[in-house]
Amino acid sequence: MATLTINQERFKTDFEALSKIGATAQGGVNRPAFSPAHIKARDWFRKQALKAGLEVRIDGAGNNSAILHQDKASKTLLLGSHLDSVPDGGRFDGALGVVAGLEVLRTVKETELRLNTHLEVIDFTDEESSLVDYLGSRALAGLLQPEDLRAPMGGRSNFEVGLARSGMKEDEIFTARRDPGSLKGYLELHIEQGPRLEMAGARIGIVSAIVGIRAYHLIFQGKANHAGTTPMETRSDASLGASAFLLAAREITLRDAPDCVENVGNLHFSPGVFNVIPGQVDASLEIRSIDEASLDALETSLLARARIEAERFGLGLEIKAVSRALPVRMDPNAQSALWQATETLGLSPLTIPSGAGHDAQVLAQITSTGMVFVPSAGGVSHAPSELTIWEDCVNGANVLLGAAVRMAGIKNPID
Ligand code: GLV
Ligand code: MN
Ligand code: MN
Repeated sequence: MATLTINQERFKTDFEALSKIGATAQGGVNRPAFSPAHIKARDWFRKQALKAGLEVRIDGAGNNSAILHQDKASKTLLLGSHLDSVPDGGRFDGALGVVAGLEVLRTVKETELRLNTHLEVIDFTDEESSLVDYLGSRALAGLLQPEDLRAPMGGRSNFEVGLARSGMKEDEIFTARRDPGSLKGYLELHIEQGPRLEMAGARIGIVSAIVGIRAYHLIFQGKANHAGTTPMETRSDASLGASAFLLAAREITLRDAPDCVENVGNLHFSPGVFNVIPGQVDASLEIRSIDEASLDALETSLLARARIEAERFGLGLEIKAVSRALPVRMDPNAQSALWQATETLGLSPLTIPSGAGHDAQVLAQITSTGMVFVPSAGGVSHAPSELTIWEDCVNGANVLLGAAVRMAGIKNPID
């Protein structure tokens, strides 16, 4: 049989149509979970799926799926990613994998190839963790707990607004859980979001492992007071502890934890005005590594340092752990299906770890999971200038198709 390939034009038309939903003047998209643009993107996805003659399904966690059923199959191979974006994000992150999955299902449907498992392309809810980190994939995997919804990353009230806007019901979220025995596996095409492929001159990557990610609120507590009349030496300024911690965290990570990265992505000053000494600063800290022991060690030293800096400036400190995603290895069977698919297409893949988080790291805990990466120009992502050249996107979609058919298994025509 000749190597099966997707319809490039249709794939491009779809990708461009989707890129217009929530498009920003800078050339990216702004589609945080449950924003009007995100809801519109999901409507678009379902419409395309119905047009292609696929079954459409929305589960209790809001995950949107398009399904190509196979006769007598009992398991499902999931292909997916996400249609939400970070605020002012790029067009490719998540969207590429969903559009490619849709194109894979359409291609298989058109060839009338009969497979041993159903194929389902799934758009997971809130991959970007705007409200509840990995809400959709964790609910599907049975790894979401009711307490995860009580004080989520994006704040409880924002979560409630999002639920109301999307029409979702909180008590139905847990019905999204799937029996792992019903799944054959999960494959995801994604942009690399870093510079490694480009630096190595590779056009395609097969993911070996995905980083674990831990996030915390470090709340430095001082005393709000008049910025003009309070003597400098008697102030209890929460910004000093937070700032000293920021610089120390970078130094500690560079010196003691070369296989980790840390980021303080936000500082929230209260009350946050010119003429009041900051009474409180909430620092959003995140650490990542593919090694759990390295994360343990870095967590211990960074939190100890935060306590030291708080004490140095006479401040209180409250530490709230807000999320924890485990580092995971990709499944050898899924990796091998991806390898074979790249070789059949004459591509030479590079095996690399993912420094970005993905729904695949949740799915990897319950089913055979693999990811394929395409290069990000200049290693840029989570920014409007995010770009992957179209030929690489097509390669990625064809690898996804080849690996999906391999993992699903072709049914003997006389079965
Ligand atoms: C998801 O994109 C992440 O890595 O934060
Ligand atoms: Mn993504
Ligand atoms: Mn992202």
